[in-house]
Amino acid sequence: MTKDRYKRILLKISGESLMGENLFGIDVVTVDRVAREVSQVFNLGVQVCLVIGAGNIFRGLSAAAEGMDRASADYMGMLGTVMNSLAMQNSLERIGVESRVQSAITMTEICESYSRRRAIRHMEKNRVVIFAAGTGNPYFTTDTAAALRASEMSCDAIFKGTLVNGIYDKDPKKYDDAVKFEKISFHEVLTRNLRVIDSAAVSLARENDIPIVVFSIKEENSFVDIMEGKGNSSIVTS
Ligand code: GTP
Repeated sequence: MTKDRYKRILLKISGESLMGENLFGIDVVTVDRVAREVSQVFNLGVQVCLVIGAGNIFRGLSAAAEGMDRASADYMGMLGTVMNSLAMQNSLERIGVESRVQSAITMTEICESYSRRRAIRHMEKNRVVIFAAGTGNPYFTTDTAAALRASEMSCDAIFKGTLVNGIYDKDPKKYDDAVKFEKISFHEVLTRNLRVIDSAAVSLARENDIPIVVFSIKEENSFVDIMEGKGNSSIVTS
């Protein structure tokens, strides 16, 4: 069973998946549902840490495309991830899952600052750790933050919960004949320029030999199902 293969994993959730049916912002019912699924996986005995994007609040890249300075836009995006992280912490704690938010940008009044050793300690004490503010640097995406933290935490896999249920040869929203990969290599994701995960994240995961499982977090129970060896996903491995 998948859960037996993974002792510690990092779940990366796109910001958009926390909007629910809204066009913007945080839908608390959706965050509660995702938190429930995280707690179910956690109850299977898998240590879980999280990185959340910010596309539901602010998209650094889009703002940069419209003329905003890229570094400023990225910092605003990082602040968006802190809001999402605090919302997730709140949902987790309301269902009795202990969690800690650690930010890559120091804001001690709001949450802990990132510390690798402390984060590992939290996980050993059965806490879910939520890594906020990306890598703390502009020009890096939250996918890259996920690959970086997963490497630092010695995670067995990265689970990328997004809006599509796997990796396709072309955009399945645009093309009906798009074909899904059940399994694909890091090399192929990079050379085919399949944009479902950014290339810096894929390179980092490849260097550290951490498989990436791509699945739809919008589909209810998909995270738990995949852990139990069911469900719909694609896996990137070496
Ligand atoms: P252990 O000592 O390993 O049991 O971990 P702990 O996190 O419970 O200990 P600590 O006393 O450091 O933290 C108690 C609470 O304060 C937790 O909710 C932490 O998240 C929070 N906390 C710790 N450091 C900071 C910080 O720098 N800023 C903020 N805002 N909260 C913090």
